[in-house]
Amino acid sequence: MWMDLFVDGSSRQTSARLFDQIRDAIVTGRLRARDRVPPSRALAVELGVARSTVAAVYARLLAEGFLDARVGDGTFVADGCPMSPAPARSSATGEAERRVDDVTDLVVRADLRTGSPEPGLFPLVDWRRCVTAAAAHRPPGYGDPAGVPALRRAIASWVSRSRGVIASPGQVLVTSGAQQAFDLIARTLLAPGDMVAIEDPGYPQARRAFERHGRIAVPVAVDHDGIDVTSIPHDVRAVYVTPSHQSPTGVTLSSARRRELLALAARQDMIVIEDDYDTEFRYVDRPIEPLRRLDQAGRVLYVGTFSKTLSPSIRLGFVIAESWMIDDLCATRSVVDAQPPHVTQAALAELIMRGAFDRHLRRARRVYRTRHELVARATQSLHEQGLVPAPWRSNAGLHSMLALDPSTATGPLVERLARRGVSVASTEEWSLEVVRPALLIGFALADIAQLGIAFDEITRALQRPRST
Ligand SMILES: Cc1ncc(COP(=O)(O)O)c(C=O)c1O
Repeated sequence: MWMDLFVDGSSRQTSARLFDQIRDAIVTGRLRARDRVPPSRALAVELGVARSTVAAVYARLLAEGFLDARVGDGTFVADGCPMSPAPARSSATGEAERRVDDVTDLVVRADLRTGSPEPGLFPLVDWRRCVTAAAAHRPPGYGDPAGVPALRRAIASWVSRSRGVIASPGQVLVTSGAQQAFDLIARTLLAPGDMVAIEDPGYPQARRAFERHGRIAVPVAVDHDGIDVTSIPHDVRAVYVTPSHQSPTGVTLSSARRRELLALAARQDMIVIEDDYDTEFRYVDRPIEPLRRLDQAGRVLYVGTFSKTLSPSIRLGFVIAESWMIDDLCATRSVVDAQPPHVTQAALAELIMRGAFDRHLRRARRVYRTRHELVARATQSLHEQGLVPAPWRSNAGLHSMLALDPSTATGPLVERLARRGVSVASTEEWSLEVVRPALLIGFALADIAQLGIAFDEITRALQRPRST
């Protein structure tokens, strides 16, 4: 027996129960990153259920990032899925298991998962040159925990040029992605029991970073103008927002709300964490000034990442804030991991300073713009056919949200699409109190052809909600 799975009831209940049990096993660490899952045929026989039921459950786990499938190599627990611990060192049995012939039985025709940019767009030739240049010198030993000076300078000048955020290199802290920035801010600038207002729906990993340290996340509703500033409670110490491209709705925080938020921060003596994670890709309108640029009082910590522009595996991001805050964050950082790897930092500094990063962004923006247009048109068409409510306006980034009729059960819809080869997640994980059924349409991993297939399937599924 692979693991203790319990099934009974109708096929829909069976599939929901199987999904919950496998996901829980992953989240609680009973199944670990890179553990292999049995082929759907074998598990179906073991459990006495239809193979299509197991295949649909696997497809949904894949769509939501809990599993990973490689053609010819089988299906595994994904690396880095929420709270899944690192794999144990491989044992003899583990190696033997890895040799078992396992055939991936899920054909993904359209991959709408969010999170990563298109790997094919990565500027490999330039990156290789920059890494070679960075590795040409002997490693310098322990460096500044705030980051390699060349990279702090490069980020300061790039951010001031591209987003109007003016900072000296001393106001830049290089982090291991945006996630480390949230973690350091939670540990350093907030105390146990402090309340942090977060967007609802909002980015789950940021919320987890605050909650992990005993800070209390208070959900605040989001509408078509972004976070509802008037609903932010009076006793919060911080607000976490994604103003340029709200995660997941995609809306832009209006100018009026930005000013209200900063005024509130001043009145209530709170800090604002501005997560600007993907607006290097903006397609339709002019960007609105970042909160950090509008901020007169030094309350805004501006967080950026290279996960969307280059790759999440580069693991580099940054915080821009007042120098005293950077010093405090840096002191925490020095006892956490000293610094990100020197070579990667130095290579990224080269990439930016040589102009190769800007060239890459221009090229990637052109590719994503056509996909963004297709998604906007297809969403509008679904609305005009009466299949979905009015779209949420998303002008930037690598995903848009497809709002669904409030009575839609997203679990079965996601499963049905997965059975038809469309890997897509719902926004369930992003929502706390505000429940609005929606799909997250990522367009970084799916090209125009795949997006066409995906919207055909979505249209069909919404036209015939009960068929399979
Ligand atoms: C809202 C939001 N912020 C930040 C990030 C980037 O995180 P990191 O830089 O840790 O990869 C993501 C990635 O998906 C995101 O969705």
